[in-house]
Amino acid sequence: MSIFDTLAKEWDQNSNRVQNAKSCYEKLDEICDLNGMRVLDFGAGTGLLSFLIAQKASEVWALDNSKGMLKELERKLKESGVEHIHPHYHDLEHDTMPNDFDLFVTSMTLHHIEDTKGFLHKAKSSLKPGGIIAILDLVTEDGSFHSRGNEGVAHFGFDPEALADLLSQEGFEIRFNKPIYTIQKERDYPVFLTVGHLV
Ligand SMILES: C[S@@+](CC[C@H](N)C(=O)[O-])C[C@H]1O[C@@H](n2cnc3c(N)ncnc32)[C@H](O)[C@@H]1O
Repeated sequence: MSIFDTLAKEWDQNSNRVQNAKSCYEKLDEICDLNGMRVLDFGAGTGLLSFLIAQKASEVWALDNSKGMLKELERKLKESGVEHIHPHYHDLEHDTMPNDFDLFVTSMTLHHIEDTKGFLHKAKSSLKPGGIIAILDLVTEDGSFHSRGNEGVAHFGFDPEALADLLSQEGFEIRFNKPIYTIQKERDYPVFLTVGHLV
């Protein structure tokens, strides 16, 4: 049982999470044409971002390894009647990344994944030629962000420039790389969005 299984039911009650996903969607919508896109939302959780993107995308695959989060997402799908978001359990180590997507997006999940470079490579494999990757995550922090403790936290945020370099090495051209939201707790935690497309 992961920490996310226990947090799932109350996940959407945190307004920072809701606003963060909204900022990500609005910026993405400015940068790329989401209409009709086939989207993979990795670490989708309860689908805060998936639902927003699904307003324009033709389909959204919502992958996660927390059964609790996926259950909550399924409950929300049933309640809303939305049929083009598809929740899937995905184990990064053992499952093959599905492919043929126009957009791979991951929101606040990368810092939970140990092998950043390996993950970006898998993300790339999910995309069609010319596909887009979008990563929303914390700018480097001091380890105080997760007030519940750092179990399951692999990185204390990222330097957006260093992440953009890793994406360039994978063959992405960077279209956007800036902080777009600030999570306010006892102190401020800026969140960046990096968007690149395969060239
Ligand atoms: C901080 S939550 C973000 C959820 C959602 N993207 C959001 O912005 O509200 C991180 C999510 O990533 C999932 N996750 C973490 N590590 C993962 C992995 N290795 N494979 C799949 N999902 C993972 C967690 O279960 C959790 O739902």
